[in-house]
Amino acid sequence: MSVHFHYQDNRLYAEGVSLEDIASRFGTPCYVYSRAALTGGFRQFSDALKGRDHLVCYAVKANSNLAILNLFARLGAGFDIVSGGELKRVMAAGGDPKKVVFSGVGKTESEMRMALEADILCFNVESSSELYRLNEVAKSMGKRAAISLRVNPDVDAKTHPYISTGLKQNKFGVAYAEAMELYRKAGAMPNLRVTGMDCHIGSQLTDISPFIAAVEKVLLLVDELEKEGIALEHLDLGGGLGIRYKDETPPGIPEYAAALLSALKGRPQKLILEPGRVLVGNAGLLLTTVEYIKRGEERNFAIVDAAMNDLMRPALYDAYHDILPVTRGGHETGTYEIVGPICETGDFLGHERALPIAAQSRIAIMSAGAYGMSMSSNYNTRPRAAEVMVDGESMHLVRERETVEQLYAGERIVA
Ligand code: LLP
Repeated sequence: MSVHFHYQDNRLYAEGVSLEDIASRFGTPCYVYSRAALTGGFRQFSDALKGRDHLVCYAVKANSNLAILNLFARLGAGFDIVSGGELKRVMAAGGDPKKVVFSGVGKTESEMRMALEADILCFNVESSSELYRLNEVAKSMGKRAAISLRVNPDVDAKTHPYISTGLKQNKFGVAYAEAMELYRKAGAMPNLRVTGMDCHIGSQLTDISPFIAAVEKVLLLVDELEKEGIALEHLDLGGGLGIRYKDETPPGIPEYAAALLSALKGRPQKLILEPGRVLVGNAGLLLTTVEYIKRGEERNFAIVDAAMNDLMRPALYDAYHDILPVTRGGHETGTYEIVGPICETGDFLGHERALPIAAQSRIAIMSAGAYGMSMSSNYNTRPRAAEVMVDGESMHLVRERETVEQLYAGERIVA
């Protein structure tokens, strides 16, 4: 457990606020974030990279709440976006578009326009067709688009196959062997400006060696380019650093940053990173209430008011999230399947968890700050959860609970 979530007299707290108090005030299910944890993570990057020209572009997809984006923006962050929607969020949150890099394999023409209009720092281009399209769009606007190619270094990130992106068979990036040719083409396009190189090999990496293998392959290309007179301004090494959900032992931020810096061997380029999960994952939890205890023949179920629509990771990746009682000691401990009310067997949040709970108890699904709320849906016409940010002794509602009326406001009945 992080220092920001801790027990005090057998009650679970986020910083100085008890989760019971948050639940009674805002209801459940509810995401709770610790501002100190968010700030602390970002500062670790800034400290580790001090003295080196760098930009930490927070991967917005991990958690795109405006309060979180605003907090990172104030700490000096840039942003890694993958859609026009994320760009709008960044700007609505006070982020600087000039510190935005735009990743993703399927950028539409209108998204390109929006990003060019906003004068973003760089497009991370993922294919030759995208390169041509971007050049055309920029031309029609009388602009030059800054680009880097997302190179697929073909290294095994050794993570879950759904979140591994740096292998040849993945849809991401341009093939390593084609990168030089594409850089030459890009260099000759009048409405593009080649400024960098980019790679991102996957997410939830708990070992440093794939990162280093990727850097080494990237640097070989950088050298090749230099020989041809194409000098780059920045190197974007993506995100992907893992966190501890259960018993993983990922390198810490300082260790990771130091390893990258040493692999870069004093290269002059500005270093860009795109961390998502490591900045928000363990800074958030999902607070939920037990509705029913249901005793089955083989297993006992705790049916809670959060579900797979609120937190998809267990259903989608069989991901493990620690589950803690909000109050310890009140009830006898039993072993439960922690499930939601959705009509799918995949609707579980945890298997075989020993918890001292009864109906109406509250529990906290830990490490839910990354890819929790941002991947939530309205399946079963379930309004999305509220989000609360705790700052010391105070709690702030940073997103209201959705209403059912909002869910069907855009729908029409055919006469
Ligand atoms: N940059 C790019 C281009 C990415 O595709 C991603 C994540 C990141 C940065 C941030 O990676 P991070 O530092 O968060 O690992 N939904 C999955 C994770 C999908 C990650 C997709 N790309 C999950 O819940 O585990």
